[in-house]
Amino acid sequence: MAEAKKKEPFHWRTSIAYKTRPKIVVRGFDVNDLTGNLDLGEMAYLVWRGELPSEAHGRMLNAIMVCLAEHAFSPSSAAARMVASGGVPIHVGVAGGILTIGDLHGTFDRPAALFQTGIARAKAEGRSIAEMADHLVREAREKKQRLPGFHHPQHIRDPRSARLIEVGQKLGVAGAHLALALAMEDATERHMGARVWLNAVGVSGALLSDMGFEPELAKGVMLVSRCVSLVAHVYEEMTRERGWRASSGQDITQPLDLELQRPEFYDGPPDRPFPDERRRL
Ligand SMILES: CC(C)(COP(=O)(O)OP(=O)(O)OC[C@H]1O[C@@H](n2cnc3c(N)ncnc32)[C@H](O)[C@@H]1OP(=O)(O)O)[C@@H](O)C(=O)NCCC(=O)NCCS
Repeated sequence: MAEAKKKEPFHWRTSIAYKTRPKIVVRGFDVNDLTGNLDLGEMAYLVWRGELPSEAHGRMLNAIMVCLAEHAFSPSSAAARMVASGGVPIHVGVAGGILTIGDLHGTFDRPAALFQTGIARAKAEGRSIAEMADHLVREAREKKQRLPGFHHPQHIRDPRSARLIEVGQKLGVAGAHLALALAMEDATERHMGARVWLNAVGVSGALLSDMGFEPELAKGVMLVSRCVSLVAHVYEEMTRERGWRASSGQDITQPLDLELQRPEFYDGPPDRPFPDERRRL
């Protein structure tokens, strides 16, 4: 029988940080040097990417996180408030909201992946950005796929997009990925019958790609940013509302009011007898 490979005793392996009894070192810097000298966006960049950001990258990351922090009622805030209405601690409500961040809400990763693959393909295939944009939009149309990072069901034309683009251009961060995203928006007019606008998630995915963020890390930016406002929504739910969201004594009809779940809104099987042979008690 082969001899069992001798293993090292267990220890964590990380390039992020270490601590000893008297000090804490993050990506090589004493945390006390970072405290008071970095803002939270710059700290996030250092922890995530391992290096201090340039001034432009730090400001762009902060701008994206400010822009995406709060968005009134969307899936994350609505879910966080419903979870909080069950009477759970604040972090449980925040976690409930974060669970909605997926392919359709807060999807920084999907547009980032689309634009990064698009630029890589354009280089490999010797196509211009405009040609690749045209190809990607036509392909999505043919396959009846929706473009990640485009359209907004509440705004149609997302009011945040133009400002993010402006900030990205002023800071000199905007590059090939944003150019591809904008060219794809133009191409929607040719292939989708009407202009389908880039949303804030799409612009953020493009700008973060121009800053060198991998798609999963780009999604991390959204998660952290939205946590800021989920704390506010859960705290407000805990302190201003009555819990359960069904009380009939409130001025506004509550989302769990029985009026909103009347039998005529139900389209499952009709009422039926439980089979006698399945009865146990
Ligand atoms: C969020 C989303 C699910 C909303 O879809 P929706 O509720 O169907 O939106 P609307 O009803 O307003 O859609 C209107 C039209 O725009 C089209 N459309 C919507 N999103 C589109 C997209 N991303 N790409 C192409 N066309 C899109 C729809 O097909 C629809 O046309 P139709 O009525 O002919 O089918 C959809 O826009 C989407 O999947 N977007 C991509 C993911 C994304 O970026 N999410 C972040 C949102 S901030």
